[in-house]
Amino acid sequence: MTDELVYGTVSSQEAIELEERYGAHNYHPLPVVLAKGDGVFLWDPEGNRYYDFLSAYSAVNQGHCNKKIVDALIEQAQTLCLTSRAFFNNKLGDYEKYITEYFGYDMVLPMNSGAEAVETALKLARKWGYKVKGIAPDSALLIFCEGNFHGRTLAVVSASTDPDCYDGFGPFMPGIVKIPYNESAALNEVLEKHGKNVAGFIVEPIQGEAGVNVPDEGYLKNCYDLCKKHNVLFIADEVQTGLARTGKLLACDYENVRPDILILGKALSGGVLPISAVLADKDIMLVIKPGQHGSTFGGFPLACSVAKAALEVIKEENLSEKSYKLGQFFRNELRKLNHPMIKVVRGRGLLNAIIVEPKDGVEAWDVCLKLKEKGLLCKPTHRHIIRLAPPLVITEEQLMECVEIIKSVFAEL
Ligand SMILES: Cc1ncc(COP(=O)(O)O)c(C=O)c1O
Repeated sequence: MTDELVYGTVSSQEAIELEERYGAHNYHPLPVVLAKGDGVFLWDPEGNRYYDFLSAYSAVNQGHCNKKIVDALIEQAQTLCLTSRAFFNNKLGDYEKYITEYFGYDMVLPMNSGAEAVETALKLARKWGYKVKGIAPDSALLIFCEGNFHGRTLAVVSASTDPDCYDGFGPFMPGIVKIPYNESAALNEVLEKHGKNVAGFIVEPIQGEAGVNVPDEGYLKNCYDLCKKHNVLFIADEVQTGLARTGKLLACDYENVRPDILILGKALSGGVLPISAVLADKDIMLVIKPGQHGSTFGGFPLACSVAKAALEVIKEENLSEKSYKLGQFFRNELRKLNHPMIKVVRGRGLLNAIIVEPKDGVEAWDVCLKLKEKGLLCKPTHRHIIRLAPPLVITEEQLMECVEIIKSVFAEL
């Protein structure tokens, strides 16, 4: 590593010290500082280049600084950024029409972060439970899966089964039932007992943060059918799995399940702005009336222009098909590794994970450090899972080069 700065005015060492000194310690980043991004690549201030295999937790599906999206951002930023929803703006309606037609829903409620969109979906479900389903006041239930990750708000951590997420943040929100993931029988049991009070069932079609847990075939469809039987809303959190990441536009598409409420975020802006969205049909969406929910930035003109461009890129660059094809190729190559530390390779599209068996004190974190040294950035989830999720614009040649990097790291372990 050279000491000369190639990008910016702050060295890696200085940047780390500044974050440590002045920033809250709510993350445990890998020791690498990023100063520039382009497509599948990231560079540190000293000019070292890395393949990005995290894609900002799947927010950068379209590649870093995607030209079309950044051009849309610049043009809109020079015209009109924010008006609040106190007034109409000339970008929101156009974007709403585009995104609802894109996903086949009547209406959208635009928000910013993924967690806010989840909150929005939960509020919608509760309101729908009271207004449409006829649940008695203040007794609506929401069903979550164990191992879920839906963000960091109090409602969402109330439903978490990860002590890091909930410990010390109580008292928690009532009205939550937690059931095992990938067991539709567990959902059936709760619905048979409490179905008339259940407003919604929220599920990640693949659990991302839990370690790329791909459920058994038929699980989502079974859950969806059970929800229909008990008049319960099927809510899909596709914040991480959606927008071509798993090889289809939505991970629910694998089972032809159309969620009653669809939650999107992350790649909805290609990583350019925090933009999220909740989609549903009128009978659900219109239970929320003016003044009952919102956000100063939700649906602001800048977001509308960026999100529309980000969605266009997914179609124009056939990112779903690319992700599907390259994902097959990638898993096949990784499965050939045949290393004693590798227990399983799993995933869909370009959302993949290597499950390792920690050996002689070497854990997933150490593997990620070694990958970093060889120019590939990824982040462990838990002590034994390495998630591998490059931008979907990666080429087969680049992916092959990355397989070689991964191979060489395991060869040295
Ligand atoms: C499935 C899922 N839902 C919600 C969230 C929260 O999104 P955000 O961090 O934008 O609030 C995440 C973030 O990783 C996620 O993976």
